[in-house]
Amino acid sequence: MSAPALAALAPDSAPVGLLYILSFSLFIYGVRLGTHPTTARRGNGIAAVGMAIAVATTLALQGIGNWGIIIGGLVVGTVIGVVASRRVQMTEMPQMVALYNGLGGGAIALIAWAEYRHWIVEGFAVPADEMVPTLLAMVVGSISFWGSNVAFGKLQELIPSQPLKVPGQQIVNALLLGGLIVGCVYLGASADNGTLNETIFIVMLVAAALLGTLVVLPIGGADMPVVISLLNAFTGLSAAAAGIALNNTALIVAGTLVGSSGTILTLEMATAMNRSVGNILFAGFGSPPESAGGGGEDRPYRSMNAQDAAIQLAYADSVVVVPGYGLAVAQAQHAVKEMADALEAKGVNVNYAIHPVAGRMPGHMNVLLAEADVPYEQLKEMEEINPELPQTDVCVVIGANDVTNPAAKTDESSPIYGMPIIEVDEAQQVLVLKRSMSPGFAGIDNDLFYHPKTAMVFGDAKQTVSDIVAELGDL
Ligand code: TAP
Repeated sequence: MSAPALAALAPDSAPVGLLYILSFSLFIYGVRLGTHPTTARRGNGIAAVGMAIAVATTLALQGIGNWGIIIGGLVVGTVIGVVASRRVQMTEMPQMVALYNGLGGGAIALIAWAEYRHWIVEGFAVPADEMVPTLLAMVVGSISFWGSNVAFGKLQELIPSQPLKVPGQQIVNALLLGGLIVGCVYLGASADNGTLNETIFIVMLVAAALLGTLVVLPIGGADMPVVISLLNAFTGLSAAAAGIALNNTALIVAGTLVGSSGTILTLEMATAMNRSVGNILFAGFGSPPESAGGGGEDRPYRSMNAQDAAIQLAYADSVVVVPGYGLAVAQAQHAVKEMADALEAKGVNVNYAIHPVAGRMPGHMNVLLAEADVPYEQLKEMEEINPELPQTDVCVVIGANDVTNPAAKTDESSPIYGMPIIEVDEAQQVLVLKRSMSPGFAGIDNDLFYHPKTAMVFGDAKQTVSDIVAELGDL
């Protein structure tokens, strides 16, 4: 099927330039709105409109290609995207992002290959300024595709989430990287487009795939959100490189935006865990530490039921809720809002302490609590709430663990030593709502649970909070 007459805009014509400027202005405005929870949803919609304009403009260019394949791809992609997005659980969001990010990288690698083949078929020598971005797009796109697939497999538990280490792995990785650099230099410098060069191109595609897989396999499931963010930055970079090769401004701008925002997010997450990106990539964090207690069966701790917890809360002046991953698992956000409403009706001042890496993805707690209509002004960042905790009567830790672990401040041998935490141990009383004494993501015991001021309230977070709400109604 050939392109209809309507689809005949010249790539460097003024209308195309204007439409691309409009589309990436909308991307940038959308990202800007995404920085605040109250405007983030609107920002997402605005950026999506920008993407629709960019796609429509590109499809309207002269000689765009086979409309049967394009429309088929749009229909299949839209159906899969809509159905998957509606069905995905909030706790599965990181692996969905990994999968989508990987698809972006894979598409870019295939576009680079198609572009290279196009030159071979046409039989002309490729200028270095087009060859270099094409090679970059192919290598980085392939690394991103395979690395993201491994990240998806680990988070979905299709493959073991523990770091998989093989002796000599770093040497193999270094050899693969060295081979890719040599291949890029050779192909970039060679004017020839013969069979040998195409074979080298394909071997490099496979080597990049191996490198992406081998770099992510030794990383523990716990660090996957950071890895996904880094791979996301890689996909952006490869898209920008493909944009240069294809001379497509929208792809260059969108790729650069994804690359830079992914890099900033990666660095922010690493800072929030007080770890370097190098440590995340190469330290194999997530192997159970030999000294980790895990269950802490032989240490005494205090527990209480929902009724006693409700009494303690009802007679407090100030309560700080510290949500974590377990709140997302239990989907307890609406029950927590009900509890806060009931406490406020009794004159209790309620706030929420938000740790930047609580849960399993950036902004996880903000999204959950916003869904339950928790007023945004009650959500306090870690730096803001910590100085207030010594004056707080009761901290209610709901499904959070690592982000409250005092070992991060005191135990230099702890794998989370140095990670900033919500200093719950500074509050007057602490209630910890979780199902057992099991450790959290980092796989380590939490001294907070054994502190004299702490009481464990065991059970599924949603059920426990609902029981507390019922008890509050009777007080
Ligand atoms: P975690 O330390 O993982 O602890 C979550 C706790 O929730 C578990 O100890 C679990 O205990 C409890 N839980 C699970 N299901 C529950 C349910 N249905 N009801 C009640 N409790 C439940 O979570 P956190 O404190 O939010 O810390 C996040 C961790 O993820 C940190 O180590 C952080 O570094 C890591 N991480 C986060 C990110 C981002 S971007 N958020 C990125 C990379 C890594 P039970 O099994 O006993 O119930």
